[in-house]
Amino acid sequence: MKSVKIQAPATSANVGPGYDIFALALKEPFDQVELTLNDSGTISIEIINDIQNIPTNPQDNTAGLAAMELFRLKKINHGLKIRILKFMCSGGGMGTTGASAAATIYGLNKLLNLQLAPNEMIDFARKGEVASGGSPHADNVAAAILGGFVLVKSYNPIDVLKLELPETPVVLAAIRKSQRTTRGFITYEIGQEKLKEQMARCSRVIHAIHIGDMEEFGSAISVDYIHEPVRGAAIPGYWGTKKKVLAAGAYGCTISGGGSSVIAFCSTEKQDEIAELMEKDFSSNPNYSKTYKTFTSNKGVQIID
Ligand code: HSE
Repeated sequence: MKSVKIQAPATSANVGPGYDIFALALKEPFDQVELTLNDSGTISIEIINDIQNIPTNPQDNTAGLAAMELFRLKKINHGLKIRILKFMCSGGGMGTTGASAAATIYGLNKLLNLQLAPNEMIDFARKGEVASGGSPHADNVAAAILGGFVLVKSYNPIDVLKLELPETPVVLAAIRKSQRTTRGFITYEIGQEKLKEQMARCSRVIHAIHIGDMEEFGSAISVDYIHEPVRGAAIPGYWGTKKKVLAAGAYGCTISGGGSSVIAFCSTEKQDEIAELMEKDFSSNPNYSKTYKTFTSNKGVQIID
């Protein structure tokens, strides 16, 4: 096998209080990556339908950087062509950079028969994320590879647990952030009271998943003292719309990944109403892209024809 095509799902990282340690996979949208091994000795990248100026220099691209790291550490001398088919908006907190890196490592594992364990694939893929936000966070790539809800149990060494979620309706207002990353503004100095609440919320999220209670899950994810204050401030009208979304009956609402997309979980009956509400409130934002009505998904990256 010299060529393989892979599909990787959008992912929503942090899931409220789990900054850098929680993420979940969505049924739609997704990106695709086609990998072809060659004898060129170099890695080249082509972006199909690129409307977003995604870098094609391998070092500056999450897929390219992840592949470079894999080749370096496994002493692989092949050349590689990476064709990336983008369906998601970049810079929107939907894990599109993680999807490219995850798909590339998953595909190379198959093509080169490397027999990498899931944690090893996650570890290589997260190295690619440095090209995007400057940090090797594992949450998005883990959810893209494994599907479902993921909990990063340990960063050193990387150890990720996948938990299955009941298929739950999701509304995601895709909004690009106005700057590359807001990570530099986030502080862990939140004080004892907020820290206790934060830990309680993380525990509640995991408990809610164990008992399959998505209302409890939604309530638990709707408070975060680490990244939401910073990223919420960068989304005009965010707090007011969140309030309305929760009042309309959503289980929970928070910022998706690094922002500025906003994600809500709800019942099937409420999905249209909440989507309309978010679209109405956010569509005047110049960085707004579209509102997705989708679902959580227990499926991760997969090979396609
Ligand atoms: N955990 C990462 C962050 C996810 O919050 O920056 C980025 O999608």
